[in-house]
Amino acid sequence: MSSAQTLWWQTGIVYQIYPRSFMDSNGDGVGDMAGITSKLDYLHWLGVDAIWISPFYPSPQADFGYDVADYTNIDPIYGDLNAFDQMVKEANARNIKVIVDLVPNHTSDEHQWFQQARSSRANPKRDWYIWRDPKPNGDPPNNWFSYFGGNAWELDKETGQYYLHLFHKKQPDLNWRNPEVRQAMYSVMDFWLKRGVHGFRIDVMPALIKDEQLRDNPLNPNWVEGDPFWLKQFTLYSEDQPEIHEITREMRQLTEQYPERVLIGETYMPNPRLVKYYGDNLDGLHLPFNFGLLSFPDLTAGKIKKTVDDYEAVLPPGAWPNWVVGNHDTVRIASRIGAARARIAQMLLLTLRGTPTCYYGDELGMVNIPLAVEYIRDPAANGSPNHGRDPERTPMQWNSQPNAGFSPSGVTTWLPVAPDYHQENVENQQQDPTSILSLVHSLIELRRATAALNRGSYRSLDNVSADCFVYLREFENQKFLIALNFSEQPQHLTLPEWGEGRLALSTEAKPVGTITLANLTLDGTEGVIIELV
Ligand code: GLC
Repeated sequence: MSSAQTLWWQTGIVYQIYPRSFMDSNGDGVGDMAGITSKLDYLHWLGVDAIWISPFYPSPQADFGYDVADYTNIDPIYGDLNAFDQMVKEANARNIKVIVDLVPNHTSDEHQWFQQARSSRANPKRDWYIWRDPKPNGDPPNNWFSYFGGNAWELDKETGQYYLHLFHKKQPDLNWRNPEVRQAMYSVMDFWLKRGVHGFRIDVMPALIKDEQLRDNPLNPNWVEGDPFWLKQFTLYSEDQPEIHEITREMRQLTEQYPERVLIGETYMPNPRLVKYYGDNLDGLHLPFNFGLLSFPDLTAGKIKKTVDDYEAVLPPGAWPNWVVGNHDTVRIASRIGAARARIAQMLLLTLRGTPTCYYGDELGMVNIPLAVEYIRDPAANGSPNHGRDPERTPMQWNSQPNAGFSPSGVTTWLPVAPDYHQENVENQQQDPTSILSLVHSLIELRRATAALNRGSYRSLDNVSADCFVYLREFENQKFLIALNFSEQPQHLTLPEWGEGRLALSTEAKPVGTITLANLTLDGTEGVIIELV
């Protein structure tokens, strides 16, 4: 593929901002739009090409914005449309594009569509949601669970029917079989595209359309007490129905009316079902999120190699890959695999073939912190300190001032700041050439400057070492070898066929220099990028 054929969202890097936690400009303890604007210079310095901002729409915040009460406005906590426009303008002035979060599967129960729908069975908006009569014994219409625990149906006593909510009961599911719903959501997309956004991250894409008969999901016979409850049943009828691909095509057609926009789907799906979301003729989503690297508490070289190779093997021709190692729903990478290996994970993310998405704070090695019960905010936690996603959503650590520079001193932030902020913050790490932030900065700089890394081919090497993942990235006559040692012990690699190379970057901040591939020694948990000559 020549450089002329690659688009910004292919060669570029996406950075995810959780707006409540990025920067609080008005001292109310919650991040906001003006806060994001004030940190665009940092993002420009870091070198990202686009920011994806988790929902900032008016919302009762039952699921922190993933319960939208108005799709075409900004929640006053975050500012207003002017503040949004200002943010987009300032971002674009720094060559940063803005991707917004679209939550089409469900609204808030406080959205006026739902208010109307629940007002009577005869209301014209009734069919915009999924209503069913109770079973004769009063039970819910089927056995589907809610991802936040319990049954996915809530009885509306006034009208005597249950409505479906695959998430919180304050997040009723829309009925995507109703053409008016589709049109309404496409108008929402058009509203934001006209406002200058460069794309959407689409929430729970596979769930949008359900089995027409709402059949019971089969139970998982292998489920045992202690496994996550959502593995209790297979989501055969509640997700990933064949008709979903009609919807991705419709969204794609709409988006194509604007140049170089991108559709990124939240698609927690195993292969090969995942890659179906590109569309049979690459006419679906541009980037169905590939979460293959999120599931490892034990990031071993062999498992990673298999994950990458398997995904590369099932990608349809011409489909552009993408990678993620952290997001607002998953334990932070540094907590999953430890500080040392988090550095290799960044090298992995930023040298694989395909668009990387970086979760805010992972560039600092931010960790999950244990939270006392009174700090639990996430509905998915169900009141337990052992569950929920709050610990990966704590405020960004900007400096060593009180509240980490996120909120002014004396303010109670919406979630506590992680106590390691005194050392681990942007200001300190920018000054320390050995910090993970300096490493991520260098990785991004190298990736941006190197066609082999941002658009080249990928090939893994077999049988090099059980503890190292070694692969090549090539473009025209550029050739880079990446070797990542996931073990704590030093590893000696013998790759005489690759002659000599130049060390371009090591996770250990070693000086660049000549390397003989016949005798390559990696320190424990070291990763290297070597330009082959
Ligand atoms: C997605 C979001 C998650 C949210 C859920 C319901 O999985 O990433 O944060 O709770 O959808 O909207």
